[in-house]
Amino acid sequence: MKVFVTGGAGYIGSVTTELLLNKGHDVVVFDSLERGHRSAIDDRATFEQGNLRDKEAICTVMQQTKPDAVLHFAAYALVGESMEDPGMYYRNNVIGGINLADAMQKAEINKIVFSSTCATYGQPDRVPITEDTLQRPENPYGESKLAFEKALRWYQDIHGIQSVFLRYFNACGATEKFGEDHAPETHLIPLILQVALGQREHISIFGEDYETPDGTCLRDYIHIVDLAQAHILALTGDHSGPFNLGTGTGYSVKEVIDMAREVTGHEIPAVIAPRRPGDPPRLVAGNEKAKTILGWKPKLDDLRKIIESAWQWHQEHPNGYED
Ligand code: UFG
Repeated sequence: MKVFVTGGAGYIGSVTTELLLNKGHDVVVFDSLERGHRSAIDDRATFEQGNLRDKEAICTVMQQTKPDAVLHFAAYALVGESMEDPGMYYRNNVIGGINLADAMQKAEINKIVFSSTCATYGQPDRVPITEDTLQRPENPYGESKLAFEKALRWYQDIHGIQSVFLRYFNACGATEKFGEDHAPETHLIPLILQVALGQREHISIFGEDYETPDGTCLRDYIHIVDLAQAHILALTGDHSGPFNLGTGTGYSVKEVIDMAREVTGHEIPAVIAPRRPGDPPRLVAGNEKAKTILGWKPKLDDLRKIIESAWQWHQEHPNGYED
């Protein structure tokens, strides 16, 4: 297949591009490089630099490249930033998405796999979270992703563009080539590893008075190679609608820090800090639908393996893609 990957210079897009190419597919990466990294784009991919907010640009590239399907990763993805500037999230994630869907319709491209998020569920009443859980986002980031899911349902009904929404839980880990490098970094695992690399003095634990076994928040950490495999399954089968992508197991912040101490051999000092606004206590995926319908099975669903792969990449790229 020829696959058009928006956001292919970002964390999950770069790894999915790598895996698609390994499987013999052709990949066109479309990325503005506003937040992505040029060196995160696999050399074997064709690169088109552009911004989804530029409708003419995306329509032209889509017409010229005529892919079989689109994987849509490009988005802003910081909850805290979205709480400060919601307009930025609507413009990029919703309007940019609509421009992409219109470009697909014009070029008669009928399949899209969209990177959605567990943030569309907000604070769920129960875990594990299944796909039919009421979606009540608690921040503009989650709301912008939900708005584009809803738009895609109409593009499917009206224009016949088949849409899969992959709702990621906590993406983490690395391949030998590509890893996690956000600026600013806000995610738990890379921040912990920055402490192990001597770049930070300590990791802050945002709250230890939650109603969880050790008082810290539980998250479902899913390796990006497993995420990438799910995209390939979603692309190649006759699928549509939402799928949760997580392992089904939650780890607490303290468990993640303890595992990172074992893997790195560094003491990783931790300091208890106030709760971070908007953090749900528990987010754990119900992943039965992805397993039974997509035939997906997370293979790297072991916290040690996840942290080992991230640690290897961070040791080799202590300054991220700047190296
Ligand atoms: N945490 C800390 N200290 C830190 C950073 C994080 O204790 O320095 C905690 C957080 O409070 C949270 C857990 O570690 O309990 C994981 O935090 P991350 O920031 O790594 O990830 P989030 O769960 O907040 O975010 C993820 C995705 C978002 C998505 C969100 C849905 O990265 O894109 O889940 O809630 F929107």
